[in-house]
Amino acid sequence: MVQKKVKKASPAHRVQKEKPHTFVSEVPDRIRRLISSSLEIDEVLNLSMHLMEKTLGATASSILLYDAETNQLKFYLATGDKKDILKVIRMPSDQGVAGRSFQTKRTLLIPEACKSPFFYNKVDEKSKFITKNLIATPIEVKGKCIGVLEVLNKARGTFTPEDARSLKTISREISIAIENAQLYDEVKRAYMDSMLNMAKAEKYRDGDTGLHIERCGEYAYRLGPALGFSAKDLDSLKLSMMMHDIGKVAIPDAVLLKPAKLDPAEWEIMMRHTTLGGEILGRGAHMKNAVDIATCHHEKWDGSGYPQRLSGGQIPLSARLAAIIDVFDALSSKRPYKDPFPPEQVNAMLLEGAGKHFDPELLQLFISRIEEMREIYRTISAA
Ligand code: C2E
Ligand code: SIN
Ligand code: SIN
Ligand code: FE
Repeated sequence: MVQKKVKKASPAHRVQKEKPHTFVSEVPDRIRRLISSSLEIDEVLNLSMHLMEKTLGATASSILLYDAETNQLKFYLATGDKKDILKVIRMPSDQGVAGRSFQTKRTLLIPEACKSPFFYNKVDEKSKFITKNLIATPIEVKGKCIGVLEVLNKARGTFTPEDARSLKTISREISIAIENAQLYDEVKRAYMDSMLNMAKAEKYRDGDTGLHIERCGEYAYRLGPALGFSAKDLDSLKLSMMMHDIGKVAIPDAVLLKPAKLDPAEWEIMMRHTTLGGEILGRGAHMKNAVDIATCHHEKWDGSGYPQRLSGGQIPLSARLAAIIDVFDALSSKRPYKDPFPPEQVNAMLLEGAGKHFDPELLQLFISRIEEMREIYRTISAA
């Protein structure tokens, strides 16, 4: 069926119109909305805390979250001029006003901290903040107490029972925000996972067992730090690299598996895997690396690549790395249309592309670590 279509007058059109359309609409709408809402939880919380301080006339406030590993309450967010030092302070989850509020799930109004038997003054000792009065109220998510919200030092007078009631209401809203953020993280992870699974499933089509994908992720993970990627960003770089060819889901077998050179019409179709991949991954927020790599991994340093003929620094760094990684692995491997090249020839072919296909500096880095890259290839292969 598919083969027939490809042979018709304008094959490129058909393939492009049908496949990506059905594919893209498969991403459930609800999830898409969630993902693209890209709410920044800490910003939301910070804003609510400032608003809360204003409403209650407080001079500082903080959110402490329970850490089950250490059985401590940890300052997650704090306002006021001691906020930086507070961030590293922890307190036992059964001590202090906060601890008591956490354990009993009750809102505690303390008009004079120095007279309270519960008050835990080690926090003040460390932060040099002087707590005169405070209210602490539990933060509950799905009936479970996850932390404590506090307001401190009323600017005029001291906190009233009415302030305590208001804080209780605010805490409920904050817990909803936290719950949403957790849900958002879960959804994002699930989205990444399903994309990755699709990328892997896709590779089975052309006889590869998914090892090419694993290797590409690993090369990137190892080289990332030398490119300035922080530890925190390495996982994203790795996953993004693994998904670089996800757009091939929309390339028909007749083209993808052709055991010979592609004719011009087929090549038109093949080249679309870049743009399509970017569109697919672009459905999720916070996937910039993934979109950059999928879209631009066949751009060339001298501007002769596709799909946009970008050149030099116009090509995102992650995609310039992807180009080298992808070709190194493709040259070293068997494909439906080619046999593997021996290592020396792979080297020579890569060097041939310096300043033409590849970013010369990045290529130099890659070549300087070629033994390590070959080791990855050997380790992550079928036999
Ligand atoms: P791929 O097979 O994973 O190859 C990725 C890239 O490695 C290629 O990007 C190319 O830059 C490089 N490469 C692979 N094999 C060779 C080779 O024998 N010599 C040289 N000099 N470079 C090589 P490119 O060319 O943009 O191709 C993108 C994808 O298009 C390929 O991914 C493959 O899926 C497909 N393709 C390319 N040429 C053919 C072909 O002649 N027949 C078939 N059936 N598919 C092809
Ligand atoms: C306490 O909960 O007893 C003190 C906490 C604080 O100073 O923020
Ligand atoms: C691959 O099969 O992963 C490389 C092919 C391409 O980058 O288009
Ligand atoms: Fe590709």
